[in-house]
Amino acid sequence: PRTHLHDFIVQETPVKRLCKTHNTITVNGQYPGPTLEVNNGDTLVIKVVNRARYNLTIHWHGVRQMRTAWADGPEFVTQCPIRPGKSYTYRFTIQGQEGTLWWHAHSSWLRATVYGALIIHPKEGSSYPFPKPKRETALLLGEWWDANPIDVVRTATRTGASPNVSTAYTINGQPGDFYKCSTKGTVIVPVDSGETNLIRVINSALNQQLFFTIANHKLTVVGADAAYLKPFTTSVIMLGPGQTTDVLITTNQPPSRYYITARAYASAQNAPFDNTTTTAILEYKAASCSSNCTQIKPINASLPAFNDTRTATAFTTSLRYPMKAPVPADIDESLFFTVGLGLMKCPKGSRARNCQGPNGTRFAASMNNVSFVLPSNFSLLQAHQQGIPGVFTADFPAAPPVKFDYTGNVSRGLWQPVKATKVYKLKYGARVQVVFQGTSIFTTENHPIHLHGYDFFIVAEGFGNFNPKKDAAKFNLVDPPMRNTVSVPVGGWAVIRFVADNPGVWLLHCHLDVHITWGLGMAFLVENGVGEFQSLEAPPADLPVC
Ligand code: C2O
Repeated sequence: PRTHLHDFIVQETPVKRLCKTHNTITVNGQYPGPTLEVNNGDTLVIKVVNRARYNLTIHWHGVRQMRTAWADGPEFVTQCPIRPGKSYTYRFTIQGQEGTLWWHAHSSWLRATVYGALIIHPKEGSSYPFPKPKRETALLLGEWWDANPIDVVRTATRTGASPNVSTAYTINGQPGDFYKCSTKGTVIVPVDSGETNLIRVINSALNQQLFFTIANHKLTVVGADAAYLKPFTTSVIMLGPGQTTDVLITTNQPPSRYYITARAYASAQNAPFDNTTTTAILEYKAASCSSNCTQIKPINASLPAFNDTRTATAFTTSLRYPMKAPVPADIDESLFFTVGLGLMKCPKGSRARNCQGPNGTRFAASMNNVSFVLPSNFSLLQAHQQGIPGVFTADFPAAPPVKFDYTGNVSRGLWQPVKATKVYKLKYGARVQVVFQGTSIFTTENHPIHLHGYDFFIVAEGFGNFNPKKDAAKFNLVDPPMRNTVSVPVGGWAVIRFVADNPGVWLLHCHLDVHITWGLGMAFLVENGVGEFQSLEAPPADLPVC
């Protein structure tokens, strides 16, 4: 195994997009940031230097961080932010994961531009469980705002309103030729006829689930979230923010230029979303041209409509672990978490300009009616490890305070969450099941729920209210997919299982940044087991202080 040393200099850099130059926060001057390529078993040592004017942390999305929670990155959860002018070195080892992950800022909305791919090749001396691809390409799907994304979220937080939707989607930072001033920058993926190539697709968008297709080419799905899957073929994939999907394509079409496209899977009723389409081009060598390249094959007819829940669900329910999965058959902790929006009343006499949500309210979101508030003086992990009182309470509820018809017409009395910093304690080694139940409070919507520090098995998903008797009979305990982010279906539910074998404090949250901004999250506190290899490591000496 090798050790990879990197410096990440985070700084403002002029970036020209959509006809204008923007001062953009980048890593080493790059947007998207540098791609990290390692082998399973390797160690990464990344010194992050903050030369920007915002607080900052970096999260290595999907990396299990076994006993190294200090390197996980969510601000005020596992560390205090790196202040402007300061630095912090993240050290961690990839243990058992192979495929595609990514890294991103985990502070305010900085991840809009501060993100990049983390590619994990098979362990040295071993190979893919599929024929070796001729070429490999990583495609990061993103969201671009003409305004400064930090200003967008700050304005929304100040007014209580919904933040502005993005100006464009991007592939590797480029909107593509459907947008103004963007034809020249459109990303080209060069291929040769008769090859099998691996495309690693990453949804780095802030607030949007996305459909992805390549015109006239079938996609053979072989992995997701750095875990292999039983291969299956489809013409469209759907990714929630945070998710990755590895696909093989065979270049068996007439040499030409084919559109690679992504656009919204927008499931919320009546909620505004960015309804534009981003493109890149799959270019056969024989068809390459240096200018006047007009001959692009038409956009893929199979790119679904924005509200095509049937296609999205057909995809997510097709994923299978490639063999018998090590999913726990029995469980010690049976949890039921509602995930959904809410609205906070504005205190009497508060200025109207701070309450621009629906009917003079502020938007909120919650799990089990608790709207998650980050601490500000210590990180949760520090408070736990040093026994600092008053930072959090360990009474996050295992079930919602009252049962109701979650996806029906929810009475207004249940719309208002409570703000708090609560964690749920898990014993080392506990076998955990969580039912995520979407609610129709204010609107029904998909929620891509991400758990830090763990992969979990998605044993079932469905629509309406979860029925413990009927639905439990349908759990897949044989070959459910293993992921780090689950798309809880719109107006429905999903069930995950995992073993709490990684001590630390681990954030669980909706990966739509607008929802985590409103409090759609909580944290698990996983206690140490016995002995060194079941305990959290000591914190690094340069851990930032608040
Ligand atoms: Cu990809 Cu908590 O994040």
